[in-house]
Amino acid sequence: MRAVLVGPPGAGKGTQAQILATELSIPKVSTGDIFRANVSGGTELGKKAKEYMDRGDLVPDEVTNAMVKDRLAQDDAAEGFLLDGFPRNVPQAETLKTMLADLDSKLDVVLELRVDEEEVVNRLSGRRSCPECGRVYHVEYDAPQTAGRCDDDNAELYQREDDREETIRHRLKVYRDQTAPLVEFYENEGLLATIAATGPVGEVSERAMAAIREKASS
Ligand code: AP5
Repeated sequence: MRAVLVGPPGAGKGTQAQILATELSIPKVSTGDIFRANVSGGTELGKKAKEYMDRGDLVPDEVTNAMVKDRLAQDDAAEGFLLDGFPRNVPQAETLKTMLADLDSKLDVVLELRVDEEEVVNRLSGRRSCPECGRVYHVEYDAPQTAGRCDDDNAELYQREDDREETIRHRLKVYRDQTAPLVEFYENEGLLATIAATGPVGEVSERAMAAIREKASS
């Protein structure tokens, strides 16, 4: 299974990617997580990405595409993957198509997670993330058992730099201008499935699995 998750910031792509990748036994490839790991590790890639991420802008395509190409060439992605956060504009989608064609491969499904903008702002302002395993929580909707600590490894949870309200609003504009056109792009490719990403996380996962299976088998 080669799948992509598309949706605005805060739609629950990271939350669902973790669950769906386990369910489908494929690796989750999250460009945001890879960039953040590079920023905290102080690598050259992290230094290039940081200023864009802090502003809520997209990291330039040449940097992002090269990073994804390296990641998808790793052995664990040979039989499938779930992309979270890539592609993020039509040129990245064209690049992904070429990258996969070069490997004699192609996407099976693109799942769009739909949620309205006010819900996004509520979700992102309450988000807390684990620096060790990347697990995502919400102070109200998906709280850890012990406040401020990850259930899996007890690490202290942190709030992302780009989760301040004005940066969230800018990320939403970037989504509308640059990423939303992917919905039509993938509809034209016959790959798009869309679900409402509201309601309990487990219900969204069930909807997502059903939509992925239906699209991939059609
Ligand atoms: P990235 O990390 O991809 O951020 P994003 O797309 O803005 O998405 P988020 O991670 O904010 O949200 P999400 O949809 O994953 O939601 P989550 O599951 O966490 O990218 C960050 C930056 O990296 C970009 O701005 C850019 O600079 C750069 N970048 C990344 N990819 C790039 C690319 N391809 N090209 C160029 N630049 C790139 O959930 C959010 C919150 O909601 C959590 O608190 C969660 O607990 C809660 N929640 C989840 N589901 C539910 C539910 N059903 N009900 C209630 N709450 C829920």
